[in-house]
Amino acid sequence: MGRFDGKVAIVTGAGRGIGAAHARLLASEGAAVVVNDLGGDATGEGADATPAQMVVEEIKAAGGRASVNGGSVSSWTDAEALVQQAVDEFGGLDILVNNAGILRDRMSFSMTEAEWDTVIDVHLKGHFAPSRFAAAYWRTKFKETSEPVNAKIVNTASESGLYGNAGQANYAAAKAGIASMTIVMAREIERLGVRVNAICPVARTRLTETVAGTSEFMAKKEGQPDQFAPENIAAVVAWLASDLSAGITGQVIKIMGGSLQVLRGWRPVAENTDHGEWDLDTVAKVAPELFAGIPGGVPPFMPNIGDI
Ligand SMILES: NC(=O)c1ccc[n+]([C@@H]2O[C@H](COP(=O)([O-])OP(=O)(O)OC[C@H]3O[C@@H](n4cnc5c(N)ncnc54)[C@H](O)[C@@H]3O)[C@@H](O)[C@H]2O)c1
Repeated sequence: MGRFDGKVAIVTGAGRGIGAAHARLLASEGAAVVVNDLGGDATGEGADATPAQMVVEEIKAAGGRASVNGGSVSSWTDAEALVQQAVDEFGGLDILVNNAGILRDRMSFSMTEAEWDTVIDVHLKGHFAPSRFAAAYWRTKFKETSEPVNAKIVNTASESGLYGNAGQANYAAAKAGIASMTIVMAREIERLGVRVNAICPVARTRLTETVAGTSEFMAKKEGQPDQFAPENIAAVVAWLASDLSAGITGQVIKIMGGSLQVLRGWRPVAENTDHGEWDLDTVAKVAPELFAGIPGGVPPFMPNIGDI
């Protein structure tokens, strides 16, 4: 008996890295998995169905059910076809794990239009497009049955987006957008019986192995738990995708090594309500008090690893 027996899952970007670990774990627990991956390089150039095919073959060899989808998550048409593939091949959809991603790091003053557009496309649109078609499918099902559909979306944000890593204006804007979108969609589709959460993973993959200092930090240490293996992240995603996390929605969870953190976003930290209408002089007058006790400059960058 697997925890996901009879369930159908889509995992995007599941040809390698963290997504492949999600797909393997969900399949080993009984889910039929649509393994989506465009298969390009780490910057999103090119396409190759081989990585997704290899993960599917591995799942099938272990006795599981899986199929390949080579579409791009940033294409509306491909995203619709991805959801339809789950329904046509496995009879429905219960779990959507949005994970596909790329990096094109550059300081903002040097960033090209293509670097901006591609990263926003793959991450932000690439999370929304499959979610949009999955939500439409679940809404139709809910209307037909009047029963909560008991489905889950797990998104992939990043602490880089939440804390603001220099050199990643494109990636951080997309990841912060994904965290906000998680909350919006959690509010919108809770009544259908769909929970929507996000993770901020830290794991050893091709995206991190090129970052100075990170490879050594994340390397498997002899005789110690392998805390930066992608499988360490997959366990949390499987929990969010299961009924074991009932009641949890609209949350953002960071997984780094042996630590799990529940993160919270923007909130008021100071307020002045003394004035009916603001003018420049009154703003200048109340501002010192408003900012009293709040350190100036940008907030400190919280994570202890670099350019992820
Ligand atoms: N590795 C980390 O420490 C870390 C930290 C924070 C966030 N993340 C996020 O985790 C997710 C997975 O990253 P990873 O480290 O496993 O990287 P990875 O490069 O190993 O895997 C990402 C996969 O996404 C696929 N992909 C890229 N563009 C696609 C598209 N348009 N359509 C379909 N598939 C596409 C790639 O082919 C690749 O197989 C990403 O969203 C990444 O931003 C990773």
